Amino acid sequence: MLEKGVDIRVEKEIRKIKESALADLKNAGSRDELQGLRVKYLGKKGQLTRVLRGMGSVPPEERPRLGELANQVRQLIEEELDKRLAVLDAAEKERKLAEEAIDVTLPGRPVQFGHKHPLSIIMAEIKDIFTAMGFKVAEGPEVEYDYYNFEALNIPKGHPARDMQDSFYFSEEVLLRTHTSPVQIRVMEKRVPHLPVRIIAPGKVYRRDDDATHSPMFHQVEGLLVDRQCTLGDLKGVLLSFARQMFGQDREIRLRPSFFPFTEPSAEVDISCINCSGKGCRVCSNTGWLEILGCGMVHPKVLANAGYNPEDVVGFAFGMGVERIAMLKYGINDMRLFFENDVRFLHQF
Ligand code: DAH
Repeated sequence: MLEKGVDIRVEKEIRKIKESALADLKNAGSRDELQGLRVKYLGKKGQLTRVLRGMGSVPPEERPRLGELANQVRQLIEEELDKRLAVLDAAEKERKLAEEAIDVTLPGRPVQFGHKHPLSIIMAEIKDIFTAMGFKVAEGPEVEYDYYNFEALNIPKGHPARDMQDSFYFSEEVLLRTHTSPVQIRVMEKRVPHLPVRIIAPGKVYRRDDDATHSPMFHQVEGLLVDRQCTLGDLKGVLLSFARQMFGQDREIRLRPSFFPFTEPSAEVDISCINCSGKGCRVCSNTGWLEILGCGMVHPKVLANAGYNPEDVVGFAFGMGVERIAMLKYGINDMRLFFENDVRFLHQF
């Protein structure tokens, strides 16, 4: 049994809700308040929701009209809520901007530019000098076999030359390479029987050493040339050219007889002191000379070990410590500075 006039009452109620919601919205001053109103009118137990739920008591012929009216009001309230929210948000943004005004006259914070490590700079210079002379850059592994690091270079087990290059061993046959010379063998093995072999091999090497002029990890550049014909004079010419490009055009070099098991004859190479040009000073311990590398004519046994016939080919080789070159060039007296990563030091190059 439907109550009489119920449709009129419901309609009035809907219109009342509309008026009251619009009035409330006008006065809402915050996001929270708006949320409260959303719940009050449109929420699960909200006023409009309640009216819609009560539609059952309205005569069926009136339901579509009232239903539509209620939905229109619902939509209107939703739209007004959103509008009001936008207005409040805009006001809040304005307020924040005014409060946190940026002072565009403040000096900026300068960006710190990184740059190359001094050893990378020197390494690149060394590579440039030798590649311009026709040497190709070759590489070899840092974890190396005893065979390549010693044996093939004519340093058998028990040889006293091993004492100067104590290494870090993984096993009896595998170690961290103590020099870049094993790359000589690896390159020749691959290249045989082709000529010439003309490479430099830059890279990291490791020894059980640690003081102001020795680091357990350091860098070397190896050089190797093998051909049908080449002499100690060619070697000296290449090294003189290198010394002058690296340390200045007025440098002289001298070769002092020395010993390395993988070269014969062997020599130690000095450059005229970059500080006093040979007169004698503290830098060169009054000798006028600074040692920069070791070199020699490749030992016939080494050529044979790598597969070349020492009757048919000759070669020269050299090896230098990159830290040593950098220390001389930049006047650095403690090798550890390279690896401590103190930017006050690294910045200067
Ligand atoms: N490998 C030697 C070292 O680390 C340096 C060296 C000397 C390399 C003479 C050579 C060479 O190629 O001919 O002490």
